[in-house]
Amino acid sequence: MSQSTGVPFVFSHVLVTGGCGFIGSHLIRLLLSEYPGVRVTNLDALTYAGNPDNLRDVEGNAHYRFVHGNVCDANAVEATIAGGVDAVVNLAAETHVDRSILDPEAFLRTQILGTHVLLEAARSHGIARFLQVSTDEVYGDVRDGASRESDTLAPRSPYAASKAGADLQVLAYHHTYGMPVLITRGSNTYGSHQHPEKFIPLFITNLIDDEPVPLYGDGNNVRDWLHVDDHTRGVLHVLEHGDPGEVYNIGGGNPRTNRTITEQLVSLCGRAWESHVRHVTDREGHDRRYALDCAKSRALGWAPRRPLDEGLAATVQWYAQNEAWWRPLKAASFQAYYARQYAGRGLS
Ligand code: NAD
Ligand code: TYD
Repeated sequence: MSQSTGVPFVFSHVLVTGGCGFIGSHLIRLLLSEYPGVRVTNLDALTYAGNPDNLRDVEGNAHYRFVHGNVCDANAVEATIAGGVDAVVNLAAETHVDRSILDPEAFLRTQILGTHVLLEAARSHGIARFLQVSTDEVYGDVRDGASRESDTLAPRSPYAASKAGADLQVLAYHHTYGMPVLITRGSNTYGSHQHPEKFIPLFITNLIDDEPVPLYGDGNNVRDWLHVDDHTRGVLHVLEHGDPGEVYNIGGGNPRTNRTITEQLVSLCGRAWESHVRHVTDREGHDRRYALDCAKSRALGWAPRRPLDEGLAATVQWYAQNEAWWRPLKAASFQAYYARQYAGRGLS
């Protein structure tokens, strides 16, 4: 493990890709509130997961600029990065594992080609930091212990494989061209503004609607839950203090089975397990457990702050109070996906 120089990296204009999504929108809000004077450009293709409503509150901010564009489009990326950007934080991705099983191609295009296009543009403009937002899923299924940054990558879903491919490209640009790259590998993230296709918001919104929730398999798969505020603080901490060429795990320190999370959500939503939880056919290739060793990011000075119980309660409250945000996302096109994903699994 290399030692930090101790001198924080100072940035003045950050290009955030995928900023209209869940984590990206929180990251942009944090940048604009905690780094006065820093300019933020958000390049987002507005896929089904990109939601301009996530950033309505900062639209009028003079330091914020939105560019509607695709990271795979070299001309759009070139035009965006040319405006004095000195740091890139790449979050743009197709992110839902179940969709990657149904239809992997878009994952490969955005994660593999998109990351390549961004790296090339960053290289030609001499960008001072390129931070790739990655995931604990690249380490694959971890039966015992916890993944360290030096562990061999062993992704097992099309989503995880596409993210691992992006990580390897990013590291190759450091080794080959000396590019000042960083990678964060975050664990399962939760909080407000997460698309209702994902486990926690899907379950909350179904429970609010008095609908059953589909728990895959025996429900004993373990995920390490990280509040989105802790994830975004971790990313910016690594951007400022991380050593170029290094990877940093960012885990919540809250390993829970899906069954335990489901019990909490059912209770927080005032429903009953017997009437509202369905054990449905398991996800294909479902990883049993992810776990991160975060000694390296902790040594850098980051630690998660939000306790899971408090964060989950706040998240349930946010969805209960913001139906106007999520109801449109569960409308027509989502219903088609939902029917395709859950048909024949024993949900009804
Ligand atoms: P999200 O699906 O909510 O948002 C993704 C955003 O990227 C959307 O705004 C979408 O429009 C945009 N996008 C997709 N393809 C694009 C393209 N080709 N060009 C430009 N924009 C594009 O995702 P999220 O949950 O906020 O995740 C953000 C990043 O964090 C991803 O890279 C993901 O792999 C990583 N991550 C997520 C988690 C998690 O639990 N959510 C955990 C660890 C890491
Ligand atoms: P998800 O939010 O899709 O994240 P990931 O698969 O990237 O960890 O799912 C979190 C966990 O919840 C995962 O073990 C799968 C499980 N899950 C269900 O049991 N039912 C569901 O309907 C969904 C979407 C997920």
